[in-house]
Amino acid sequence: MPIELPSLPYPKNGLEPYLSAETLEFHHDKHHQKYVSKLNGLIKDTEFAAQSLETIITTAPIGPIFNNAAQVWNHNFYWRCLTPNGEQQPEDPLAEAIDSSFGSYDQFKAQFNQAATDLFGVGWVWLVKDGAGVVSILATKDADNPLKHGRIALLTCDVWEHAFYIDYRNDKARYMQAFWQVCNLRFAEERYRAN
Ligand SMILES: [Fe+2]
Repeated sequence: MPIELPSLPYPKNGLEPYLSAETLEFHHDKHHQKYVSKLNGLIKDTEFAAQSLETIITTAPIGPIFNNAAQVWNHNFYWRCLTPNGEQQPEDPLAEAIDSSFGSYDQFKAQFNQAATDLFGVGWVWLVKDGAGVVSILATKDADNPLKHGRIALLTCDVWEHAFYIDYRNDKARYMQAFWQVCNLRFAEERYRAN
């Protein structure tokens, strides 16, 4: 079975005015689709063709197959981290875990934004959970992701320029402000409880 591009969980204009329909059209229909198509071409007739995305990511050596598989997974995950019903506050037990690691939700957001600002080049910023239930921020470069580091992803922000250049040009800080307006904390809470 080829790897498929999942549909967006909201209409293209559902995240406006924070992320435009044009951004979602390019980001999902062009960039995300390209990773899916490229991956399917690369794994055709190989041992990876019958494997899940997660297995490919954890077993493929660093290279084109890993890069495209991880970019597909990262984008599948990113779209679920966004919602038209943003402006949420975290609830327990995730809220407790965030307070314990960062002091408060506001301090967590400030550190997450700083990690995005400090990331040189392209990549992703994640809220992750370890085996003991402790949450932390992980910044990964290029396609790299928490699965490769034995961490459970709870939340991510795509900080490749294609995620924000149409709406915010080179202003990553404004994109980060917009991200929190459409951030899906209910999804992060679900991930925290289920893993
Ligand atoms: Fe992206």
